Order: sequence, then C-alpha cells, then structure tokens
Amino acid sequence: MKDELFTIEKNDLLCKGTYLMRLKGDTSRISGPGQFVNIKIEGLYLRRPMSIACYDFEGIDIIYKIVGKGTAEMAAMEPGDTLSCLCPLGNGFDLSQIPKHAILTGGGAGAMPIYQLAKILTDAGMAPHVVIGFNNEEEMFFAEEFKAVGCDLTIATMDGSVGVKGTVVDAMKKLKEEGKNDLAYACVCGPDPMMKAVSEITASGQYDLGGRMACGFGACMGCTIETAKGPARVCKEGPIFRQEDIIW
Ligand SMILES: Cc1cc2nc3c(=O)[nH]c(=O)nc-3n(C[C@H](O)[C@H](O)[C@H](O)COP(=O)(O)OP(=O)(O)OC[C@H]3O[C@@H](n4cnc5c(N)ncnc54)[C@H](O)[C@@H]3O)c2cc1C
Ligand code: FES
Repeated sequence: MKDELFTIEKNDLLCKGTYLMRLKGDTSRISGPGQFVNIKIEGLYLRRPMSIACYDFEGIDIIYKIVGKGTAEMAAMEPGDTLSCLCPLGNGFDLSQIPKHAILTGGGAGAMPIYQLAKILTDAGMAPHVVIGFNNEEEMFFAEEFKAVGCDLTIATMDGSVGVKGTVVDAMKKLKEEGKNDLAYACVCGPDPMMKAVSEITASGQYDLGGRMACGFGACMGCTIETAKGPARVCKEGPIFRQEDIIW
C-alpha cells in the first residue's frame, strides 16, 4: 500500500445520485478485484474508503453514491483535479476458491466489485452467473457493461421495472427453482442485510464486508469484527471474508 496521487480523468453521473470516477495513477500494486482505496478529501479528517470497481495499467474506476459531505465533495470535482489515495488496501477475492458456476451478486453500488470479478472469471473460461439488484430502473447502472462481459446475467429491481421483481435473493431462489444454479457458492457485495440474506440460501462463498473505517490499513483497530476465527480487521484481514468465518 502507498499514498498515491491520482488524477481525475472523468467524473460522470451514472444514474440518480451515483457517479463513476476514473482516476489515473499507479496501479501496479493492485492484486485483484475486491481491494479498495482510501481517499483523502480536503477538510475532512478521515479518508473515505471506496472499492476499486475496475483497474487496468493506467488507472482505476470507482463508483460512488452521494451519501454525505465527502461523497458530495467528490461529485463536485473535475477532470484534472488530483486525489491522494492509499492504494491498494484489503485482501480481494480469493479466485482460487471460486468454482466454475458461482453466483456473483451485488446490490446497488455493491455491483461494482462484482463487475471486474465477472470479467476475470469469464475470461478464464469459468461460467459465473451474475445477479445484480437495484431499487428501480432509474438507479440501475452498468447493465450493458455486464451484458458485454458475456456471462449469464439476471437483474432484479425492487419495483419490477427491470428483470425479476424483488431482491437479488428472490432472483437467486428463482434460478434455483428453474434448475439454472444450485447456489453452492456465491461472491457477494452489498448492504449487510442483503449479504446476510444471501448467506442464508447459499452453501458457501466470499463476502465483501465493508462497514465504517478509519485508517484503512490495519493500524487503528477501529474496524475490528468478531469472526469464527477470532477478531479480524475488516480493512486488513478483509474486506473479503469466507462465509464460514462470518458471524452476522
Ligand atoms: C471497504 C469499503 C468499500 C466501499 N466501497 C464503496 C463504493 O465502491 N461505492 C460507494 O458508494 N461506497 C462505498 N463504500 C462506502 C463509502 O465509504 C461511504 O459511503 C463514504 O465513506 C461516505 O462518506 P461521506 O463523507 O459522503 O458520508 P458521511 O458524511 O461520512 O456519512 C453520511 C451518511 O452515510 C453513512 N455512511 C458513511 N460511511 C458509510 C459506510 N462506510 N457504509 C455505509 N454507510 C456509510 C453514514 O452513516 C451517514 O448516515 C465503501 C466502504 C468501505 C468500508
Ligand atoms: S480501519 Fe484502522 S484498522 Fe481497520
């Protein structure tokens, strides 16, 4: 992990309240999907953690929802502005554990870490089934990009405006009923209640826990949670945890 200066290349509104920011800078230390950056915002004491939605040799994409002061400041930034980011942080998904027909599921902004995971697994000859969930069509993003990955895709919206009506859990149950997936393994990112609900219908998997953070690199212990293996720092031992180890 290093404190890197990234330059904003674009900062576009994706859908209501949600932005995609492309940051150019050194990505050579990033080891895989599921890692995150911790962003310094002028005037705010704590950095703001954001998942790396996508990365390549030249930079990273982050997708963020405006929820408070920091994210509102980010939305007001322009191409050419710079951001200091601790990058990369966290462990990322353990690709070696993911079986061929895993479910990859994300809710809202949580769909993003799933995007590059889907790309990497599909390119490696695996056949994941992606299930992404949004409140409604207005808040949906990246549907075309997910389709372009070439994996099976199911979209769920709470109001039924697109795809299955209901949550990603409703969509996953439907896939099982239709014999399209046995829900043996899932990689999951989203709000805690959604992830807990997925864990209740899935035999095994990996979960992107998130939560509140301070330092982001293991020093302050502020993000410590209890797991089946004892205390763990979400920012350091996680944010990706095995289903068997999580105490919801
Ligand atoms: C590892 C990690 C990865 C994340 N990745 C993303 C991402 O890819 N995209 C994205 O939009 N968000 C992501 N988040 C959440 C993001 O960090 C917060 O939304 C952000 O820090 C809020 O900053 P703020 O100054 O705008 O809000 P604040 O003014 O700090 O808070 C405003 C409101 O948002 C709530 N809030 C603040 N932080 C969080 C949080 N961490 N989780 C949930 N609610 C929060 C507060 O309780 C409060 O109600 C991630 C969080 C973690 C820990
Ligand atoms: S946020 Fe400081 S140890 Fe995790």
